[in-house]
Amino acid sequence: MEHRPRRILIFHNEITARVRELGEAIRRDYAGRAPVLVGVLKGAVVFAADLIRAIPLPVSLDFMGVSSYGGGTRSSGVVSLTADLSVSIEGRDVIIVEDIIDTGRTISYLRRNLATRHPRSLALCVLLDKVSRREVEVAVDYIGFAIPDEFVVGYGLDHEGLHRNLRDIAVLERGEAAAGTSRASDAVV
Ligand code: IMP
Ligand code: MG
Repeated sequence: MEHRPRRILIFHNEITARVRELGEAIRRDYAGRAPVLVGVLKGAVVFAADLIRAIPLPVSLDFMGVSSYGGGTRSSGVVSLTADLSVSIEGRDVIIVEDIIDTGRTISYLRRNLATRHPRSLALCVLLDKVSRREVEVAVDYIGFAIPDEFVVGYGLDHEGLHRNLRDIAVLERGEAAAGTSRASDAVV
């Protein structure tokens, strides 16, 4: 099978530096408070794990599962809840932690869903923003990187369940997405 090197879009050391800055911004904005970070399964797991360690506040962490893609590289527009929070967020300062915003449908669904549970405040922290793809308006409070309209994998982001373990964020080349030629041995871990 042909080996296709991926094009790295954001190197791990750049991600680390940016996550540290986001943590610092959150620390400043939430000084004296104890925010709940709500990571969106599964893509935001790696980002959320790094982000909580960059926030020197009494933070707690919970997760919600949503599914919107069904395996392809384009959003289906249909969002469904696959896992719910394990604690109440009523009266809490909530920060949704998401890996990427594409059309904006997933996050606006989540925002509406969480808002009905009466948190004290509700903010959104997203690692990657595909600005040009937006179909639904969403207010994002913290953004890691704005990226072009390309399908990316790594640092938690997947294609058909794979590549989450790449340390960098890389563009999935068309051949890989179409033929599913990715191999476990390509992973840089
Ligand atoms: P949206 O609902 O169109 O904003 O899609 C957001 C969701 O689609 C994210 O939570 C990701 O799980 C997934 N997604 C969007 N773009 C990419 C990508 O480039 N790589 C991997 N997953 C993506
Ligand atoms: Mg996601």
